[in-house]
Amino acid sequence: MRKELPDKALYQPLFSPWLGGGEFGSIISMVSPYSLVSPDRVWILYTLALQARHLAGDFWECGVYKGGTAMMLAKVMADTSGKRLCLFDTFEGMPETDPDRDYHRKGDFSDTSLNAVRARVGNAANIVYHSGFIPDTFQGLENEQIAIAHVDVDIYQSVLDCCNFIYPRLVGGGFFVFDDYGFPSCPGARLAVDSFFADKRECPLVLPTGQAVVVKI
Ligand SMILES: C[S@@+](CC[C@H](N)C(=O)[O-])C[C@H]1O[C@@H](n2cnc3c(N)ncnc32)[C@H](O)[C@@H]1O
Repeated sequence: MRKELPDKALYQPLFSPWLGGGEFGSIISMVSPYSLVSPDRVWILYTLALQARHLAGDFWECGVYKGGTAMMLAKVMADTSGKRLCLFDTFEGMPETDPDRDYHRKGDFSDTSLNAVRARVGNAANIVYHSGFIPDTFQGLENEQIAIAHVDVDIYQSVLDCCNFIYPRLVGGGFFVFDDYGFPSCPGARLAVDSFFADKRECPLVLPTGQAVVVKI
């Protein structure tokens, strides 16, 4: 007789480890109340962040909102030495958007604040808050190296500005995770990623979660 399938409850219908317990179970319980990112997408970001710990460079997140995914990145980074988590957002909601390319509007996601996010994500010296408008908040960071960049800014110009600045600073083997690439609410995000990578060697890997992942060659 065939042995019962190990971890049978996690086959829904395919193996879905983000439904399980363990370290990720406690992480997702901490993240979910403060995040728009679903557990399967947090799992993708989590597994890539675990790998990025072994690369040179810092962890970056562009698009923090209430700090949910940033809490997970801070936890994964906590026991690495010399890495920083750099967090970029207005912390006051969406800036001006492009009505021809975006469905989001200025002021969306304004129900947050830098103080509230800082209280959740932490005040350690290696967690750096860059509050203000992207790309202005990239100024002065031209010599940085980046191991993983979570780009969750939803609109065309913001995603494009992130690609332009981060790509040359992403280390070989480092990761871009574009959260909103495949979402019907964010057509500008996909347009920005596709136009940026059209002349690059990397080809965005589109996932059924809605994310797109790029591994820097
Ligand atoms: C979908 S939310 C981020 C979600 C978050 N990662 C989570 O865990 O729920 C998108 C965020 O991008 C920010 N954003 C978009 N464009 C920006 C820009 N040019 N400068 C700063 N923040 C920007 C908005 O303020 C908003 O907080």
